[in-house]
Amino acid sequence: MHIAVLGGDGIGPEVTAQAVKALRAVAANGPQFEMTEAKIGDAAFDAEGDPLPERTAQLAERADAILFGAAGTFDSDLRPPEQRGGHALLRLRKRMDLFANFRPVFAIPELAGASTLRRDVLKNVDLVVLRELTGDIYFGQPRGIHVEGGERVGINTMRYTESEIRRVAHAGFQAARARKKKLCSVDKANVLETMVLWREVVTEVGREYPDVELSHLYVDAAAMLLIRKPADFDVIVTGNIFGDILSDAAAMLTGSLGMLPSASINAEGKGLYEPVHGSAPDIAGRDIANPLASILSAAMMLRQSLGQPEGAARIERAVRRVLAEGYRTADIMEDGAHLLGTEAMGDAVAKEILRLA
Ligand code: NAI
Ligand code: MG
Repeated sequence: MHIAVLGGDGIGPEVTAQAVKALRAVAANGPQFEMTEAKIGDAAFDAEGDPLPERTAQLAERADAILFGAAGTFDSDLRPPEQRGGHALLRLRKRMDLFANFRPVFAIPELAGASTLRRDVLKNVDLVVLRELTGDIYFGQPRGIHVEGGERVGINTMRYTESEIRRVAHAGFQAARARKKKLCSVDKANVLETMVLWREVVTEVGREYPDVELSHLYVDAAAMLLIRKPADFDVIVTGNIFGDILSDAAAMLTGSLGMLPSASINAEGKGLYEPVHGSAPDIAGRDIANPLASILSAAMMLRQSLGQPEGAARIERAVRRVLAEGYRTADIMEDGAHLLGTEAMGDAVAKEILRLA
């Protein structure tokens, strides 16, 4: 099994190194992985003049799965796209057609104190936001800023084809089937025609999954219910922009961005696995970033792309054990816990994975 390791910028390489440690611990008495590192983001632009060098893109395409860190920094965010580290990720997603972005959100009881929400609201939270990643208002034409009648007008176009909706709907039903068998489709069909089509197509696809309970919510109501009764959700399937917003809100159920893994999958089942967070320039290079989102992304990779559910479960159990023992990074620190740096947290998880073998 060949894994492309693209650490990228800021804390990306720091947290990705801990996920690599976890994978090596799994490999100590199990599947063997070949891991190849390559540059992406600002690091690649600075070295080779392109944030997504062709060699990196080809390595990613050839590998069985991609472990990604983060790309971009505040400095490069303001440059033109072709010089922007963060743009490398958009290009890679589009090029590999990674349309299905899964963001699991689960409450870890030991961490309930790290959230701004009440403990009883967080009890039994275990949901997945499935965000469509390659269409919607982020890509639709026409777009731009024009002058019309003497003033500036900004235009973006919400656009989905039937087949784009259908494939992400199938991914949603299949995910729900493997979990609590509930799929909630989130749209704004009361106002937007694109979303009328969304609801129609998801409903049609649903006829092929009679064992999955399908419900529909408007995005505003969904935002409210996600905070009010998050434990009621199983899989939420939605478009690119609604998924972007809802998944950040859902992230706060766990208490820290540093806890959330994600998977972006294409039709062939090839996937890119990355923490939901970015390069965090404010804490980069200080050995204080939380590596658990990256480590949990490696677990998702084992399960979803590499056919290694046992290795995935071992990583997840190890993370819970380390948290249960009271070890914390700074972002989730509580009174009486033991503070660990990035490296030490990675070591603690790797040690636990070996013990669980
Ligand atoms: P960010 O996610 O990097 O950081 C937001 C806040 O959360 C910061 O205060 C940061 O210190 C904290 N944080 C993030 N990850 C953490 C971790 N593992 N442990 C502890 N604290 C953590 O988002 P921000 O600041 O908006 O963006 C920073 C840069 O990252 C920008 O250049 C942005 O374009 C890029 N970015 C890249 C992404 C990617 O590669 N997928 C995603 C989001 C942002
Ligand atoms: Mg976002």
